Amino acid sequence: MAACTTAVLTLCGSGDHIVSGDTLYGGTHQLFTHTLPRLGIAVAEVDATDPANFERAITPATKLLYVETPANPTLVLTDLPAVAAIARRRGIPLLVDNTFCTPVLQRPLEMGADIVLHSATKYIGGHGDAIAGILVGSSEFITRARFETLRDIGGCISPFNAWLLIRGLKTLAVRVRQHGENAMVVAKWLEKHPKVTRVVYPGLPSHPQHELAKRQQTGFGGLISFLIAGGRDAGRTVMNSVELCTLAVSLGDVDTLIEHPATMTHSTYSEEDLLKVGIDPAMVRLSVGLEDPEDIIADLAQAFARI
Ligand SMILES: Cc1ncc(COP(=O)(O)O)c(C=O)c1O
Repeated sequence: MAACTTAVLTLCGSGDHIVSGDTLYGGTHQLFTHTLPRLGIAVAEVDATDPANFERAITPATKLLYVETPANPTLVLTDLPAVAAIARRRGIPLLVDNTFCTPVLQRPLEMGADIVLHSATKYIGGHGDAIAGILVGSSEFITRARFETLRDIGGCISPFNAWLLIRGLKTLAVRVRQHGENAMVVAKWLEKHPKVTRVVYPGLPSHPQHELAKRQQTGFGGLISFLIAGGRDAGRTVMNSVELCTLAVSLGDVDTLIEHPATMTHSTYSEEDLLKVGIDPAMVRLSVGLEDPEDIIADLAQAFARI
């Protein structure tokens, strides 16, 4: 979030405007709907599945287009070349939160984005033991971000965490590939399970934007969202019954993490906004780890058996 606030406050001040996708990590949504408006920065959150929505929401005060793809936790995708073309035409920088894909699976700068953000707490660190963020952009932007904003607001990484990220980077490519392979096995199993009513994974042909995922990503990542027959209560039972998977926020860890977006990572969304952006109150999010996928499946199977 320090990377996010640094980018936003470098590009925007009081009176300015941001157009953003409406499905975001809950902390980013909270920043955009509560904290930035207090500073006089307005944010229009739009359905990011149609690039034209970005164009329609732009005003003369718009200083930034902000996109998270795949979005947390609905795994909705934004067509990056299409939104980048709008950004270029209107002369507004486009920032892409690339946390879910990492540079291994998606390269937004090559598709026309101006700035890329990562929560390095996730796949880049990779082991659930460091909190950090990364901003990538032109040297002009990074210099401004560093000396006009970051130095003043103080969102600095500790040297030890920086060292952990350098360690994580060495295995990033192999980890991300394996997370994706494991997630595909688990997603296919979930799709066949009688107690699962819906599986959302960009690698499955059932994902409404599967073709877009194949076009702009080189793999589908380690995150899966799903709904269980029996709704919220059944979801709670599953999350409290898993033994190998850990009930915890965060993602991109070597260990499989399971969580309930509506009450955990996305509790900052009102009930009305959760429904509007498609975060079903019964949705469960799984960050598939590097365990043997058969062990992850066995754990989910014994948890499903309790509902
Ligand atoms: C897509 C995305 N962006 C940003 C963040 C914020 O990251 P951090 O917790 O490292 O500040 C998160 C955290 O879950 C996230 O999922």
